[in-house]
Amino acid sequence: MDNSELNDIDGLRGTAEAAISAAADEAALEQLRVHYLGKKGALTEQLKRVGGLPPEQRRSVGQAVNAAKQSLENRFRERRESLQTESEAARSAAEVIDVTLPGRGTGLGGPHPITRTLQRVEAIFGQLGFGVAEGPEIEDDFHNFEALNIPLDHPARAMHDTFYIDEHTLLRTHTSPVQIRYMLENPPPLRIIAPGRVYRCDSDVTHTAMFHQVEGLAVDESTTFADLKGVLIHFVREFFEADLKVRFRPSYFPFTEPSAEVDISCVFCSGEGCRVCQRTGWLEILGCGMVHPEVFRHTGVDAERFRGYAFGMGVERLTMLRYGVDDLRLFFDNDLDMLRQFR
Ligand code: DAH
Repeated sequence: MDNSELNDIDGLRGTAEAAISAAADEAALEQLRVHYLGKKGALTEQLKRVGGLPPEQRRSVGQAVNAAKQSLENRFRERRESLQTESEAARSAAEVIDVTLPGRGTGLGGPHPITRTLQRVEAIFGQLGFGVAEGPEIEDDFHNFEALNIPLDHPARAMHDTFYIDEHTLLRTHTSPVQIRYMLENPPPLRIIAPGRVYRCDSDVTHTAMFHQVEGLAVDESTTFADLKGVLIHFVREFFEADLKVRFRPSYFPFTEPSAEVDISCVFCSGEGCRVCQRTGWLEILGCGMVHPEVFRHTGVDAERFRGYAFGMGVERLTMLRYGVDDLRLFFDNDLDMLRQFR
């Protein structure tokens, strides 16, 4: 009997087996499977030829081809399984999770230093019976200027560096318009502070276009300048938690008469004189005075019967002095290392 057919089959099987063992991945293995066992695969072609062989060869060659097919199918399956195991092992090795690693911090936040100052100011005045009032940041000429005795031609307007929205609408340049709004809606006696944002189109090392003020207003039948002094001296000592010297220096504001600016003995050098207080030993911290009769006239308060005092202070400045922050811009940079110190 001619053994060449059987030899061919053995040879094909041998090459196929070697290729299967060498297949690098599942895709290469699948290509090999198609090459040998696919519809037009090498072994499939052999099987098709069996029919054309002399009858005495058909049986043995047919058996040999089928046996080879069977065994190759097994080899393919085994190789596929081992390739799958290998790639899974590689994947889980790459994805390894170290459950003993420390967790990431959750980064607990805290109130911004400006917020902390506002809370302190509200608490101190709250104990003295002052409520909190608010007004809009977009104001009109009447509330921001006119009713505060700053008519159109008043030189004080020039000092305000106003952001105008249109001829009559603007971003409030101070919190004083809240005095007006409050008096228009509430009859005396009254005691309020009005904290909030204010805007001026002027920015440099010591000025930002937006900053915060707290306004104060008290109106009563018997209010005097002595009450104003008592309240502010108490506030300053509570706020700075120190027995600071306080002085009232005559000044001018259109909406108060008389007017004063309040200085405290320098918190950095205790009044000795340093760079911050420009060697004067004093720091200016707020403006105040007795409510001007023109303001009462605009708000419908009877100036014969009532008198009042008002004051206004800058929140950034208070915060800088209390916490020793030497650059205003630090409050607006959102630098976490800076802010964390206030937690
Ligand atoms: N509005 C003033 C300013 O922005 C601050 C001020 C001064 C407010 C005296 C007052 C006051 O109520 O009486 O500079």
